[in-house]
Amino acid sequence: MTGLIHVAYIISALLFILSLAGLSKQETAKLGCTSGIIGMAIALAATLISVNTPWGWAIIVVAVIIGAGIGLYLAKKVEMTQMPELVAMLHSFVGLAAVLVGFNSFLSLGGSGSAEVSAVALTGKELFIHLVEVFLGVFIGAVTFTGSIVAYGKLNGSFKLAIFKSKALVLPGKNILNVLALVVSFALMIVFLSTTSFSVQLCVCLIPMTIIAFLFGIHLVASIGGADMPVVISMLNSYSGWAAAAAGFMLDNDLLIVTGSLVGSSGAILSYIMCKAMNRSFISVILGGFGNKAEAASAEEEQGEIRELKCSDVADMLKNANSVVITPGYGMAVAQAQYPVAELTKKLRDKGVNVRFGIHPVAGRLPGHMNVLLAEAKVPYDIVLEMDEINDDFSDTDVVLVIGANDTVNPAALENPNSPIAGMPVLEVWNAKNVIVFKRSMNVGYSGVQNPLFFKENSYMCFGDAKKSVEEIVSNL
Ligand code: TAP
Repeated sequence: MTGLIHVAYIISALLFILSLAGLSKQETAKLGCTSGIIGMAIALAATLISVNTPWGWAIIVVAVIIGAGIGLYLAKKVEMTQMPELVAMLHSFVGLAAVLVGFNSFLSLGGSGSAEVSAVALTGKELFIHLVEVFLGVFIGAVTFTGSIVAYGKLNGSFKLAIFKSKALVLPGKNILNVLALVVSFALMIVFLSTTSFSVQLCVCLIPMTIIAFLFGIHLVASIGGADMPVVISMLNSYSGWAAAAAGFMLDNDLLIVTGSLVGSSGAILSYIMCKAMNRSFISVILGGFGNKAEAASAEEEQGEIRELKCSDVADMLKNANSVVITPGYGMAVAQAQYPVAELTKKLRDKGVNVRFGIHPVAGRLPGHMNVLLAEAKVPYDIVLEMDEINDDFSDTDVVLVIGANDTVNPAALENPNSPIAGMPVLEVWNAKNVIVFKRSMNVGYSGVQNPLFFKENSYMCFGDAKKSVEEIVSNL
């Protein structure tokens, strides 16, 4: 039976790797999802087979039914715009699970000086390694748990507490606080591993370290400003993977180790790619904005005159254009404007206009958010270009339609070294002949910074809900 379970775990692990490979391209994403689902079904079946008590069976079946029920309900109810919050919340569950597994693993020692893992009593070096796994697993899990809850609050945006604001929380001596939390936790680990007293290990080391790690997680994510949230999300994704891998070590479960490591390393690679795309220091972001200057007061003040256009005027402008670039942002997701945008694209292309899309790596609230929406509305993949592929073409573009994007088209990132988004590469839409910005008001974007693009001479504002505005333009064409 053990051999069969191992084979099932290896097949699941391979399917998870195929799933990751599939998810890296839009064309193969569905196949990637299917591989992941089959892999998880095999893993669940193998886990059920490995349990040999009726009680164990009953508990797992009830847990799977409840979990699957909640999952199905959420999948149907959650709007696409709430997905990042949901993902952050799911990461927090993984973190909490690692904390609980760690405590359970440790408590099973029960002061006897040896741990029961897979029905094998651990002593000597093996016990030492097991204790290291417990300590690190609880630490990573606790940081992931509270960090993900703060990320959830920051993405949700409706909580009043300062830690949940999109602006970075800057406590006095914040870097010293972070270093202190790490040093004290490390010292507690030394005591934890060197004493044989169960009560000292539990009450002096494990519980205080867990509290410190909870606070560390809160501080780490609260100190990061809105513009760096994409990196934080992928970083928490990575932490949740390491937390799952740590739980795998504690439970002696190979599949959990492999799966956790896959999530951990792919999350770390994604965080690195995002940092590069946003010109941020990877180390600085994973250390909670270490070394960041205090953010300049968000420039909410307006910076000149704006010019407004009606939808019928925009339609006239488009009728005379040869080349059009559309740069969508979070507002397109909120308005669900991707369908009229796809219709507008089709109409313009039918008239011979060269229409392309420019996608910023952190547009929206999820990696690939805009690509998913455009694919959903059946916009052809070959006209959807990455920022680097389109940035040099704006000077040859007649009209740029900025649909619900703000931070990702903000010239302050390049022009104002004191801006919280300074240094972030952006879509340089202002180089086009005409730029039309679709939004409902003069509100700032996610990072809380005013956008000088709106006041440039070649920029026009088309106020209103993006879906309604684009529908009106389509009917005017
Ligand atoms: P944002 O800077 O968030 O701006 C979105 C704009 O859409 C807002 O200015 C808003 O203005 C407008 N809007 C909202 N609802 C609208 C509607 N119904 N119709 C028309 N406009 C609407 O968007 P962005 O340019 O996509 O930038 C993304 C930001 O989110 C970046 O700061 C990024 O760092 C951050 N972020 C990204 C991610 C990932 S992984 N992509 C994750 C977390 C955070 P009005 O209110 O005036 O309409």
